[in-house]
Amino acid sequence: MIYTLTLNPSIDYVVRLDSLVCGITNRTTAEEHYIGGKGINVSCILAQLDIKSTVLGFTAGFTGDAIEKGLCEQGIRTDFIRLNEGISRINIKIKADDETEINSQGPHISDEELDKLIEKTAMIGLGDTIVIAGSIPKTVPDDTYERILKGLEGKGVRIVVDATKNLLLNCLRYKPFLIKPNRQELSELFDAEVTNEIQTEKYARELMKMGARNVIVSLGKEGAVLFAENGKTYHSGTVKEKAINTVGSGDSMVAGFIAGYDQTGDYGYALKLGTACGNATAFLPGLATREKIEEILKKLSF
Ligand SMILES: Nc1ncnc2c1ncn2[C@@H]1O[C@H](COP(=O)(O)OP(=O)(O)OP(=O)(O)O)[C@@H](O)[C@H]1O
Ligand SMILES: [Mg+2]
Repeated sequence: MIYTLTLNPSIDYVVRLDSLVCGITNRTTAEEHYIGGKGINVSCILAQLDIKSTVLGFTAGFTGDAIEKGLCEQGIRTDFIRLNEGISRINIKIKADDETEINSQGPHISDEELDKLIEKTAMIGLGDTIVIAGSIPKTVPDDTYERILKGLEGKGVRIVVDATKNLLLNCLRYKPFLIKPNRQELSELFDAEVTNEIQTEKYARELMKMGARNVIVSLGKEGAVLFAENGKTYHSGTVKEKAINTVGSGDSMVAGFIAGYDQTGDYGYALKLGTACGNATAFLPGLATREKIEEILKKLSF
């Protein structure tokens, strides 16, 4: 089973307006809502590819119910810890002349509730995968990811981490199968300007020395580079089409890579399917659909 972790899931409420004026009542021209969270995005793409996964994390209140129901409708298993107080957050995305986001903090998570999550992850075992993605809410300690991974040490669990700065660095000793920094995240990790391919390779290989088995550095519309544990380097480009919304492209790429590797054991194909998923998300208003992924896959020439 593939488990994805989303500590602070959300309802993303997208409102569209011609223009936004502060201090008056504005009226929307359209509105949409999505279930948000990086781990959840990975599960949604896996579902499009007919791969089962279970979403772990915390939910609370009526928005928590909506998140669980929405995932269930997509055929995605959930095994959340229900929090006693508060509601799962609603993040507001205002699309007018500019894009403005208001992201909420989310409900309080007590030490006992966090312990329950750690206990739950103990069921993950040999042959399973855990995808740890995104930042952690303010109310849980910074070492939460490490605590989870420590509990899984030596159990034969495949680990995928898509996080930034120290959250990622501190996971490397657990030998993750895959990490996927984008170029900016790679720069931040080493406090350096990563602008060309030589630097990209240098720092990606540094992360491998620190424990990462495979590193994808994603480069937005320029594609991605995979430094694989078999010693080879793989490049991927993108399809020429207008990007509508690139949020979640990285998460989609992670899901596609996992799926492609599971289907074939081939790193080149895994990167190709990851690329198709990342592109498909960029070209649609929400996340990639199976139909769009298949369309892009046919167009990718590598
Ligand atoms: N504008 C775009 N056009 C085509 N493909 C794109 C575009 N943006 C992203 N992609 C695809 O998605 C992949 C991942 O994108 P990106 O590097 O932006 O990830 P990211 O910054 O981690 O995104 P996020 O964290 O928001 O999910 C790219 O390698 C590419 O294949
Ligand atoms: Mg990302």
